[in-house]
Amino acid sequence: MKTDVIPTIKIEKTKQSKIKEVDFNNLPFGQILSDHMFVCDYKNGVWQQPQIVPYQNLSLDPSAKIFHYGQSVFEGMKAYKDDKGNILLFRPLENQKRINISAKRLAIPEFPESYFMEGLKALLKLDSDWIPTTDGSSLYIRPFIFATGHGFHASPSDEYKFIIACSPSGAYFGGKVKVLIEQKYSRSANGGVGYAKAGGNYAGQFYPTQLAVDKGYQQVIWTDDTSHQYIEEAGAMNIFVRINDTLITAPTSERILDGITRKSLIEIAKDEGIDVEVRKITVHELTEAAENGTLKEMFGAGTAAVISPIAGFGFQDKDFDLPILENPFAARLKKRMTDIQYNRAEDKFGWRVVVN
Ligand SMILES: Cc1ncc(COP(=O)(O)O)c(C=O)c1O
Repeated sequence: MKTDVIPTIKIEKTKQSKIKEVDFNNLPFGQILSDHMFVCDYKNGVWQQPQIVPYQNLSLDPSAKIFHYGQSVFEGMKAYKDDKGNILLFRPLENQKRINISAKRLAIPEFPESYFMEGLKALLKLDSDWIPTTDGSSLYIRPFIFATGHGFHASPSDEYKFIIACSPSGAYFGGKVKVLIEQKYSRSANGGVGYAKAGGNYAGQFYPTQLAVDKGYQQVIWTDDTSHQYIEEAGAMNIFVRINDTLITAPTSERILDGITRKSLIEIAKDEGIDVEVRKITVHELTEAAENGTLKEMFGAGTAAVISPIAGFGFQDKDFDLPILENPFAARLKKRMTDIQYNRAEDKFGWRVVVN
């Protein structure tokens, strides 16, 4: 079978839609799952016939390698509906490429490009009614691949499952967060898997994050693993810092996820005439700027919240508060970005993709 041309997707529709049980005016984030999922198995060295089936539980052998060796990668993206009923995606090819960058690092066979896009589009058309239209809400899309091959030998699996599942989700109102600049634990290291969206990267963050939550913070800001001097990223977001009127974000590296929101915001900010610097930021620079009043804003950037403003940060038992601004860059950039995503404004960058 040639893997670059997708065979017909076998579709089995649900006999009983769950959509009537859903309160679309009160959607949590990522908790409710739509009627269908896209599934494709890898065996005998090839990705098999893709299918769309009713959303359902899976049955796996307890010795499946995902349970023991954590061979899994995932993506996070969103589908939107405009007021004409068009289904829209935001830079979906970036997610398609990134899942394979992650897969390669985890010794998982790459998922064919056309299977990803065609499967996603077919699923969205089938579950189109699940795309919420209330302000700020969207259909959160979770593509993921994991090892299903069995046996306790610590080696790459010979069988995998690729799934796309969808969750109608409300606006991600995290509120302003207080973050702790981590000085002991590391999220990733040179030569490691930090740049991949591997499941284990997140498991490893939970314990240090719990410790930070116990101290009254909501999130950890990761620093580099050798010196803990450089600001890297947050749990599931890249970080931006505004000193005076310059917006600064750390360069991506083998330790940092190359976020699609991050790279889009860099372009939007430049287009807005904002001075943007992609360079290393030291914790010292941050505390100094907070003390002399030049630190104006900090925010996280990622698909779920788009932009999550930071109210203050803790570093070595000292807390630093950020000022409350009338017209923060965060609000301005979020509006520009979501107006493109929801088709409320011109898309001069060509990022929007209409599913038809
Ligand atoms: C570790 C990490 N950094 C950054 C991001 C932001 O990436 P994106 O903007 O592509 O969602 C995410 C979320 O995917 C993430 O998990």
